[in-house]
Amino acid sequence: MTIKNICCIGAGYVGGPTMAVIAQKCPHIKVTVVDVNEHRINAWNSANVEDLPIYEPGLAEVVQEARGRNLFFSTNVDQAIDEAEMIFISVNTPTKTYGAGKGMAADLKYIELCARQIAKVAKSDKIVVEKSTLPVRTASAIKEILTNTGNGVRYQILSNPEFLAEGTAVADLFHPDRVLIGGDTTSDGQKAVQALVEIYANWVPTEKILTTNLWSSELSKLTANAFLAQRVSSINALSELCEKTGADVNEVAQAIGLDSRIGPKFLKASVGFGGSCFQKDILNLVYIAKSYGLEEVASYWEQVIIMNDHQKRRFAKNIISTLYNTVASKKIAFLGWAFKKDTNDTRESAAIYVADDLLNEQAAIAVYDPKVKVQQMYADLDYLESRTAVDNQKLLTAYPNPYDACQGAHAIAVLTEWDEFKSYDWQKIYEGMLKPAFVFDGRNVLDQKALEQIGFVYKAIGK
Ligand code: NAD
Ligand code: UDX
Repeated sequence: MTIKNICCIGAGYVGGPTMAVIAQKCPHIKVTVVDVNEHRINAWNSANVEDLPIYEPGLAEVVQEARGRNLFFSTNVDQAIDEAEMIFISVNTPTKTYGAGKGMAADLKYIELCARQIAKVAKSDKIVVEKSTLPVRTASAIKEILTNTGNGVRYQILSNPEFLAEGTAVADLFHPDRVLIGGDTTSDGQKAVQALVEIYANWVPTEKILTTNLWSSELSKLTANAFLAQRVSSINALSELCEKTGADVNEVAQAIGLDSRIGPKFLKASVGFGGSCFQKDILNLVYIAKSYGLEEVASYWEQVIIMNDHQKRRFAKNIISTLYNTVASKKIAFLGWAFKKDTNDTRESAAIYVADDLLNEQAAIAVYDPKVKVQQMYADLDYLESRTAVDNQKLLTAYPNPYDACQGAHAIAVLTEWDEFKSYDWQKIYEGMLKPAFVFDGRNVLDQKALEQIGFVYKAIGK
């Protein structure tokens, strides 16, 4: 079966870039990305590619090439479902905020809505692909909804989790370490798997396309994120010990990373991992383990989150205690608000939690981030409900450049590792600050010696 028409439900950080790349690499396939969020769809269609809803290096060029040729963004979900032979579900699966599993389980209401809408609209056989990250065995629930509420058409469900990381999404999609496709072991299931393999084979070497059963594929996604996050929490745990003992966490990371069994990646000590995936997916894994009565498995993975929360909190505490145990009315400049460099995404960014702790102490926070808008910063803080929206606006100000953000500040906290931070005129920044001028480097990105020579008191995670 050769696919000519694809629909993707969900035009977010995954659906948008993933489908843009499929469309660019497969000009013979029509790809329509649909979303209920009209504002987002309009932004994907904006004439100026600078106004796309997502910032990712290289994305604008891909969208520009394929959009209007075989890539379309629309709010007409029903029409796109009807026309497609293959439907990707790429909607959000956040942590539940209510009911059973609150704070842990994945909220599958958007997934179920998609399944019901597909069932209602479809008049011909469809392959439904889980692109969202889902708990193991979700495919069986989707299948049940589709077959029990549908119009008698046949469905094949595939699991095709996405491994792209934000900030490098386009490069990751162009050159994935692997593409994972899980499907039914029946002959029809395998035909559906092959149809998806054929799409990726347009640009991904076939030896990198891995096919498994559905449950292995679903569980591998949660497992991959848990392993990656666990490495960050492991090095972060050691960073605290380094600070007490005189060991340097960067040197320790380098020394262990050269062991080919360990490897160098994901060993960068930080103020804590953020992003929409790690915490949500580990909490989900913990919940699944608990629901099978596997208490030891659950508490093993839960520690990764506990360590991460501790890391964020102790960074804020360290700022407060260093600034003579009071930050009330003191200006503290934040360099970076995004959860990592090269993205405008702020979901679960460590900056939000560090800011929250400092604002509870009535600090005045001055933020500069090259890609995050001030409305987003306020929305992030308001969501925590620690203070009123009015107070958040009073206490936090965003600046269009780092020099103004740091002017008159007592301290700078580096929360994101944007490359441009390294090339600032640090002498000029120092001159504008109150003395002693502190830098708390939550990402270990600045040049300690150079800053100390200028006169800064420099403190970094794990040093
Ligand atoms: P997102 O919030 O950016 O996008 C999801 C979109 O789905 C939203 O625009 C929303 O309006 C839309 N939507 C929700 N319900 C809908 C419905 N019924 N009909 C039409 N549109 C609907 O989320 P995201 O970051 O793209 O993540 C999507 C999934 O991919 C999640 O399961 C996530 O865990 C997974 N994932 C994310 C990343 C990442 O880096 N962000 C990486 C890998 C996997
Ligand atoms: C992650 C997974 O990497 C990706 O495969 C999955 O599809 C989605 O979740 P993402 O959250 O976009 O991707 O970014 P990632 O590069 O994994 O970084 C996550 C967080 O960990 C960031 O806050 C980052 O700063 C932090 N991190 C990463 C560290 O603190 N140290 C490291 O060594 C690596």
